[in-house]
Amino acid sequence: QLSQRDQLYEILAVTAKFFEHALHQSQGAIALDYLRTKRKLSPEIVQQFQLGYAPGGWQTLYGYLVEQKRYPVEQVEQAGLLVPRQGGSGYYDRFRDRLMIPICDVQGRVIGFGGRALGDEQPKYLNSPEGDLFDKGKTLYGLDLAKGAIAKRDEAIVVEGYFDVIALHAAGITNVVASMGTALTQGQIKQLLRYTESKRIIFNFDDDKAGQKAADRAIGELADLAYRGEVQVRILNLPEGKDPDEFLKAHSPSAYQDLLQDAPLWLDWQIQKLLANKDLSQPDQFHASTQAIAQLLGSLPNATLRTHYIHRCAELLSRGNARLAVQLEQDL
Ligand code: CTP
Ligand code: MN
Ligand code: MN
Ligand code: MN
Ligand code: MN
Repeated sequence: QLSQRDQLYEILAVTAKFFEHALHQSQGAIALDYLRTKRKLSPEIVQQFQLGYAPGGWQTLYGYLVEQKRYPVEQVEQAGLLVPRQGGSGYYDRFRDRLMIPICDVQGRVIGFGGRALGDEQPKYLNSPEGDLFDKGKTLYGLDLAKGAIAKRDEAIVVEGYFDVIALHAAGITNVVASMGTALTQGQIKQLLRYTESKRIIFNFDDDKAGQKAADRAIGELADLAYRGEVQVRILNLPEGKDPDEFLKAHSPSAYQDLLQDAPLWLDWQIQKLLANKDLSQPDQFHASTQAIAQLLGSLPNATLRTHYIHRCAELLSRGNARLAVQLEQDL
């Protein structure tokens, strides 16, 4: 007799197989074509990520799991796969006519799904609801496939999206996980840091508003550790507002590797960001920038490092004015 949790694991695993199978039948042709032509993914990658297709009917999965396989309907609902009909009785499939991405735990067990629309219908992604197995704040997409490479390279790349992880794998860069668009939690960070001995993380979020916010919040979560030098955080912003998947469609894997190599440390990135688009010849902007930088550097507990950054910032802020630079080194 399986425990309640084991039953849910089984239902989700069986469902992933069902979706995978449907992808390769005639009903899944549109989804398979989407993966090949729009996403340029090889059959090997499609298989490695267990990508699938949720058929279009209202009770296709219901029919398979409940009527054919005789799983209790309450459990299938609990697995997040069915939605109770409003006001009536019965259930319908949560995922219909979507490209299905299984979300696995660190051991590779399916705990949920992300379902992508094949066209412009909303929402673009429909995800499993949180439940007994799926806790979004504790899950990093792709960690089961990335943990070995993270340990080997002693570095983890964090991206936002499912297809960013998949595209990077296809490009041979496998030490990568996705936050799935939400703000990174302490739980996710802790889990990730288990696999890199030197605690090296690179954030490569989308170069859009949401991605900027995600980077700021991730840095906020890690700032204490980073100031103390207990983690090494770097930020990679891709050019032209692209996410990693889009970037790799236009550029080679080695172009990505080069940018990765040059990704600035978070503090340098913060300083760059603070000074971007500032007119330092304007007294108010100069003053605000100086104060913001003083605040940023004031929290650095390592005196040597602080001196290093103060020197650099004094040079940036003084724009060649030697007397001002000397003054700034005292003030910062
Ligand atoms: N996301 C989500 N629900 C949405 C939008 C986004 O769960 N309605 C999550 C997904 O995990 C998605 C990630 O946030 O992969 C990043 O969002 P976004 O950049 O908007 O999507 P992409 O992954 O770039 O989507 P695609 O490349 O498929 O267009
Ligand atoms: Mn898996
Ligand atoms: Mn985005
Ligand atoms: Mn994106
Ligand atoms: Mn994308």
